[in-house]
Amino acid sequence: MSGTSRRTVLKAGAALAAATATSARAESAVATGQAAATFAGPTRISLKVNGEVHAPLLEPRVTLLDALRERIGLTGTKKGCDRGECGACTVLVDGRRVKSCLTLAVMQQGREITTIEGLAREGRLHPVQAAFIDNDGLQCGFCTPGQIMSAVACLQEGHTGSDEEIREWMSGNLCRCACYPNIVASVRQAAEHG
Ligand code: FES
Ligand code: FES
Repeated sequence: MSGTSRRTVLKAGAALAAATATSARAESAVATGQAAATFAGPTRISLKVNGEVHAPLLEPRVTLLDALRERIGLTGTKKGCDRGECGACTVLVDGRRVKSCLTLAVMQQGREITTIEGLAREGRLHPVQAAFIDNDGLQCGFCTPGQIMSAVACLQEGHTGSDEEIREWMSGNLCRCACYPNIVASVRQAAEHG
C-alpha cells in the first residue's frame, strides 16, 4: 500500500467513529435539554368542559381524570382503578366515550368534554339519568356516573338493539354491586323512550 499503512487507516477510522459518537451525544443532549425546557413545570392549558372553558395550571403528566376532579372541581367523574379497567372515570370527548384516567389533560385541548355534571338541562335530568333512577340501576352509586356516560354514548352509537347488545357495549363499565340487570333495563328504557 503506497504511503498509507494499515495502522494509519485504522487510526483514521477510529478517530472518525469517536467524532461521530461525540456529535451524536451532543445532539442528543440538545434534544433532551429542549424537551426538558418544553415540559418543565406546570403549564396553563385550556379545557372546555360542559360548555365552559377552564384554564387549569398543571403538569403535562396530569390525566384528564385528575384535572377534572382535582383542578376543576368536577368530582362526579369517579376514580376506580386508575388504569383503564373499571370505566368509573368515563366521560365524553367530542361525543365519544373515553376513560379519562387513560388520557392526558393536555391532549384534550380544543375538544368538547362532557362529564356527568353536564348532562342535566335546565334542572331536568337527562333521560338516561332518569332511567337509572326508575330502574334502580345502582346500589352504592360509585360506578354510576361512568355507567351513565357510557350509556349515553351507547345510545348515540345505536348499540341498544337488544339486551345482549347493550351488555356487550356496556361491558367496559364494571359494577362491584353487580347491578347489571338493572343497568341493562335502564339503558333499554332510555332507548325505548328515544
Ligand atoms: S378509573 Fe379509569 S378505568 Fe377505572
Ligand atoms: S352501584 Fe356500586 S359499584 Fe355499581
